[in-house]
Amino acid sequence: MTTIAVLDLTGWRPALTPEAQETAVRTIEDGGVLMLPHVSFELSKLEKRFLSPAWSDGRAKNISVEKRKFSVAAGAVTPERESGDLVLKGARGDPADLKQLAALVARFAERAATLVSTLCPRYAPYVTQARTSFRPQPATGRDVSWRKDDSRLHVDAFPSRPNQGARILRVFTNLHPAEDRVWRVGEPFEAMATTLLPRIRPPVPGLAALLQALHVTKGRRSGYDHLMLNLHDCAKADLAYQRDSAQTTVRFAPGTTWVCFSDQVMHAAVSGQYMMEQTIHLPVAALYDHARSPLAILERLTGRALVPAH
Ligand code: SIN
Ligand code: FE
Repeated sequence: MTTIAVLDLTGWRPALTPEAQETAVRTIEDGGVLMLPHVSFELSKLEKRFLSPAWSDGRAKNISVEKRKFSVAAGAVTPERESGDLVLKGARGDPADLKQLAALVARFAERAATLVSTLCPRYAPYVTQARTSFRPQPATGRDVSWRKDDSRLHVDAFPSRPNQGARILRVFTNLHPAEDRVWRVGEPFEAMATTLLPRIRPPVPGLAALLQALHVTKGRRSGYDHLMLNLHDCAKADLAYQRDSAQTTVRFAPGTTWVCFSDQVMHAAVSGQYMMEQTIHLPVAALYDHARSPLAILERLTGRALVPAH
């Protein structure tokens, strides 16, 4: 089963015994979920007004800040220039309110970066990259296509963002004052891939180059990206898999923070509202043990190299 490890740490730069550090790294890289019930993101009295879906602009699913642009080439994550002011996307409101909301989101980004650098010091050079989001909408109930339906078990893989084996690490915090965030967590990555890989057809020749040329994708889809997107889709499309595959319900209480590789943990939103989320892109070389990554598992299962040599 997928491991859910609970560590009784406090604060965003927690004091860690060597055993706790080992548990954190092992849980995360083995494709488990690290749950920290006492690492909470405090909102000031004034900031509590942001706990309302009214701040969403009604179009975007999340309110987000992208602090830095990044590019992924041949498995390496390269920071580009600092983009200057924080840009808040997906929100509406007065400029003064939005400035405070952007500051809240930026504070979470900083806390999450500190936490990950403390838990997994090898990841520290990469923690300031990628997107931070505030999710004020209920976790489920939006009218979306099956492919976008995150209430179905899936691993994260994004059509427009090939990542050539680079990892998607995510830090989440439940901001709701009273309600749990509830997930279903599915079977380990290797078991899921063993079941679903035989259904995946090879990529259409020339398609990856065409999508890149048309800027549909940022960069070129590799064999790895093709498989990850198809695993995401195959799992979500298969209602029998959704119902019958091994899974457990996991409840994240108010004030809980959790960390996992969302490209590895099979997860599905069940319920909850008001959550912060930080995405961190890690090159494969930053991992403590590359052999446990989805890239290594998929290369082993298919017997092929899935990203260009570098
Ligand atoms: C997801 O990241 O797939 C959804 C998680 C959530 O909304 O809790
Ligand atoms: Fe997801």
